[in-house]
Amino acid sequence: MTARLVVLISGTGSNLQALLQACADPAYGATVVAVGADRDGIAGLEIAAAAGVPTFVCRVRDFPQRSEWDRALTDHVARYRPDLVISAGFLKLVGEHFLAAFEGRYINTHNALLPAFPGIHGPRDALAYGVKITGATLHFVDAGVDTGPIIAQVAVPVLDDDTEETLTERIKQAERRQLVEYVGRMVREGWTIQGRKVTIP
Ligand code: GAR
Repeated sequence: MTARLVVLISGTGSNLQALLQACADPAYGATVVAVGADRDGIAGLEIAAAAGVPTFVCRVRDFPQRSEWDRALTDHVARYRPDLVISAGFLKLVGEHFLAAFEGRYINTHNALLPAFPGIHGPRDALAYGVKITGATLHFVDAGVDTGPIIAQVAVPVLDDDTEETLTERIKQAERRQLVEYVGRMVREGWTIQGRKVTIP
């Protein structure tokens, strides 16, 4: 049976695009059944529409309280009965309602080697710190900021003449490969989480 993926985005959607390409092969074992965003007018929504994937937008500012946004987002996602929910550049922290529904099957790709450089400026923070190696981390989402159990990590060198842009792009290339590989393995083989240890058999 093909696993159902809901992908959440806030931006250009290059990770989404990589997943859509992978899903075109039936042997991959997954289908993107919906793409959700926290804002309009982003390239990732156009990528989804061009692929014929249903989209929804759920904006924090349309709700009087953040908890109501969290409930609405949960309802949007739940409607598509996902096996796995993927934050691929989704820049909002979900709340307790969302986690009650999807914790343990909500994953995020982050553009640094956690626990270093969490938050929304992973490449910039890595450059500013002067590390020589950074990378990307795929992890389950919990109530913290990029603190959940780690599924996979890939290292990426920082070069002497890197700018935030060049480093971000080098990380993204490795990040996309990792995301596609591990989402595929997870949907085909399953996974377990014991404490902080994630195992894909
Ligand atoms: C990705 O590099 C992802 O790691 C990052 O946003 C980018 C989205 O790119 N996420 C974060 O910074 C969240 N902490 P994309 O829209 O091209 O897939």
